[in-house]
Amino acid sequence: MHLTLLARLATATGLIAVSSVAMAAEVNVYSSRHYDSDDALYEEFTKETGITVNRIEGEADELIARLKAEGDNSPADVFITVDAGRMARAEEAGVLQPFKGDVIDHAVPSHLRHPDDLWFGVSQRARIIFYSKDRVENPPRTYEELADPKYEGQICIRSSSNVYNQSLMASIIEADGVDAARDWAKGIVANLARAPQGGDSDQLRGIVSGECDIAVANHYYFLRGFDSDVEGLSADIGSIGWVWPNQSGRGAHLNLTAAAMAKAAPHPEEAQALLDFLTGEFAQQHFATQNNEYPAVPGIGLDEDTARLGFFVPDTQTPTTAYSDNAKAAQEIFNEVNWQ
Ligand code: FE2
Repeated sequence: MHLTLLARLATATGLIAVSSVAMAAEVNVYSSRHYDSDDALYEEFTKETGITVNRIEGEADELIARLKAEGDNSPADVFITVDAGRMARAEEAGVLQPFKGDVIDHAVPSHLRHPDDLWFGVSQRARIIFYSKDRVENPPRTYEELADPKYEGQICIRSSSNVYNQSLMASIIEADGVDAARDWAKGIVANLARAPQGGDSDQLRGIVSGECDIAVANHYYFLRGFDSDVEGLSADIGSIGWVWPNQSGRGAHLNLTAAAMAKAAPHPEEAQALLDFLTGEFAQQHFATQNNEYPAVPGIGLDEDTARLGFFVPDTQTPTTAYSDNAKAAQEIFNEVNWQ
């Protein structure tokens, strides 16, 4: 009798333990974003929904390979990357499934979404031209002009292994064709002030140190120079000017932070809730203020610092799918012209 009671208790306790595990709502995110500030974003989501967010961070290509290798057993629910080209690679790898568009399709403009709802842009980053106000009277007004021989020995841009440059090159192939893009890349290499090195902040530092007169970088690296004390940059940030490129043509090159539902998502409802949350006001404000990005959802106010860069025409003509469609051709051109 006594034993039976104990057994019953154990069974009951076991059942309680099992059901509490099943009820603990969670969502697993594979993300190539690596900002500490994103903690606040996920904490808010948990506060609003009771769903715990487990994050695995890594390089986008590694995460895609991992998703593929894990297949149907993958614990991933949501995939987030900071490059539209990588998202298209995830699509090609067959590791995504369509989300429900009820909320997202109404919030995010169609040019920032996959046509079959396989992924959507959460926020946008612009890759633009910076220059020394003291040393450059007539900065390039277009990406194409960066290759003009009159800028020989003046330009700093990071290496071709960087995904931001790969997507920029892919967009130039899309706009101008492969032959013109190759000539452009040759021109850039001929105009380099130094061998490609460092990250985007280092290109801007090069303007301050005098090594570079003109640099290409994502807009938020410049804004960080205003916001915080970036060594070698903030003290002289006022000496750097910026150009929104191609404003009378196709517009400035943008890339996306993009999110998607993973193919084998074990928690599809929680995944959907998180994706919907990313288009809401809290999340959109977060992207606008924490990393000075441009919100994907229209009508969200910009951060004060971001607004300082002024209005611009974004390139909405080049489909973001071109970033992956042209990735191979872009790599071939980089190799051919010896862009390190
Ligand atoms: Fe970045």
